[in-house]
Amino acid sequence: MASWFKRRGSSFRSIFGTATPHYMQGIIHLDGIRKNYFLGKQVIEVLKGISLVISRNEYVALMGPSGSGKSTLMNILGCLDTPTGGQYVLNGQDVSRMTDNSLAGVRNTEIGFVFQQFNLLPRLTAAENVALPLVYAGVPKKKRMEKALHVLDMVNLADRSQHKPNELSGGQNQRVAIARALVNDPAMILADEPTGNLDTKTSYEIMEIFGAIHGRGNTVVLVTHEEDIANHAHRIIRLRDGVIETDKRREAAAAFS
Ligand SMILES: Nc1ncnc2c1ncn2[C@@H]1O[C@H](COP(=O)(O)OP(=O)(O)O)[C@@H](O)[C@H]1O
Ligand SMILES: [Mg+2]
Repeated sequence: MASWFKRRGSSFRSIFGTATPHYMQGIIHLDGIRKNYFLGKQVIEVLKGISLVISRNEYVALMGPSGSGKSTLMNILGCLDTPTGGQYVLNGQDVSRMTDNSLAGVRNTEIGFVFQQFNLLPRLTAAENVALPLVYAGVPKKKRMEKALHVLDMVNLADRSQHKPNELSGGQNQRVAIARALVNDPAMILADEPTGNLDTKTSYEIMEIFGAIHGRGNTVVLVTHEEDIANHAHRIIRLRDGVIETDKRREAAAAFS
């Protein structure tokens, strides 16, 4: 792994002043989060009151059966969707009632999102895909390319920067997608089944990258239904039918983090 992964160290933005060590600061506070979908007159209750705190630099795996609400919760955490009820405070900001415009701003600065399907634009090169969030952030072109190459190097893909997605393997495309998630230097990386489309060996390579991202000080939350993938995390939260069934810290893993 490139030695590039350094701790974020002093770049932590404190919301509680200097008295609280950064690792004790809650980055995510969810209080009674509910999400309903409306199909005609039918109300589908998907999240039925989720309350939890995720601290800065935690490494969390979200598990649970298909349909239990994992993606719905991740989309709310990632500010891709808003809850029907309850409160979501991210880095001290109440994002539960924000307009789409403000949410987009929060997404751009606080969150990197990685999807199962990579979601890369097929006509763009790896470097152009990675640089795309910087276009929206108004970063000048030269700086965009510099940063894109920098994060591609982080995921050991510097030599593939001019390749398009159909010229790359699944694992390489997921690494491009991870680089894209990192390019804005977000505090929090969210990944919804990032290894769901990959073979076992490639999955482990991807998990090594998430481990390194966590190691440099990022908060990482990922959805998986594979126990051995979840075991890379230090805390496992299990959902069932839209509620938290269990929430356990893995002491041994936490001890050497
Ligand atoms: N846009 C939507 N409209 C209606 N129902 C939805 C929508 N998105 C998800 N659901 C329902 O919400 C439930 C949880 O979905 P999801 O969060 O994707 O679960 P998971 O990721 O755990 O498999 C499912 O029953 C699904 O059918
Ligand atoms: Mg899902």
